[in-house]
Amino acid sequence: MTTPMLEVEGISTIRGRVQVLWDVSLTVQRGETVAIVGPNGAGKTTLVGSITGLVPPKSGRIRINGADVTGSPPEKLASRRVALVPERRGIFAPLTVRENLLMGAYARRARRAELDADLDDVFGLFPALVRYRDAIAGSLSGGEQQMVAIGRALMAKPELLLLDEPSLGLAPKVRAEIFGALARLAERGVTILLVEQNLRLAARICGRAYLMQNGRIVGTETSDELARSARTVYLGSHG
Ligand SMILES: Nc1ncnc2c1ncn2[C@@H]1O[C@H](COP(=O)(O)OP(=O)(O)OP(=O)(O)O)[C@@H](O)[C@H]1O
Ligand SMILES: [Mg+2]
Repeated sequence: MTTPMLEVEGISTIRGRVQVLWDVSLTVQRGETVAIVGPNGAGKTTLVGSITGLVPPKSGRIRINGADVTGSPPEKLASRRVALVPERRGIFAPLTVRENLLMGAYARRARRAELDADLDDVFGLFPALVRYRDAIAGSLSGGEQQMVAIGRALMAKPELLLLDEPSLGLAPKVRAEIFGALARLAERGVTILLVEQNLRLAARICGRAYLMQNGRIVGTETSDELARSARTVYLGSHG
């Protein structure tokens, strides 16, 4: 059996005085695209925070490519070839698009020519950004800012890409553009763990999903089951 890209084993996480995650386990194999779905407050962002080291779990284990990274700080992520597109994007509004993208490559110490090629790659994935290359990122639309956030994560050349609700607040057309880009990344072999409340969008690119509720994994669904659920279940977002 091959070593999973990501293994979360029985983690429990506390925020403030409240236990938010209860014995959460999941596995993502190399090359898979997996969703975490669940209602507001289920603990999805906290789970991503525990995986990335922002909110270390109080018990349980997290392994990336077989290495135990439990409690390892977020600064170490890039060297493990993991990148996060955080909830609400977290881009640097006063900087230009290009500067935002280059920040994603900060830990790589790559040569100029290599960075230029990687920037071109991001602009190829998101052609809508080309004409905003030198624009202030804060002046862009929400969808364009989401593209910048994903582009910045890609500049770290991740093997595992974590995205926390990239469709949030975006119009259907721009959602489709973003999910088209994620599908292309998946085809290239990038492993993706996607937090998504929109089941239809999740089903479009993910092979399977973990369902979260009240801080626990309460089930798993295949892509087809997810698509069926999207037609019958209302989880708080349309599209
Ligand atoms: N810093 C914090 N201190 C205390 N409790 C917190 C903190 N952040 C989140 N929580 C609580 O943890 C629970 C899970 O929150 P979390 O943000 O992980 O859920 P989520 O599934 O990402 O929700 P959403 O869909 O709204 O983004 C919620 O009850 C929330 O109130
Ligand atoms: Mg969240």
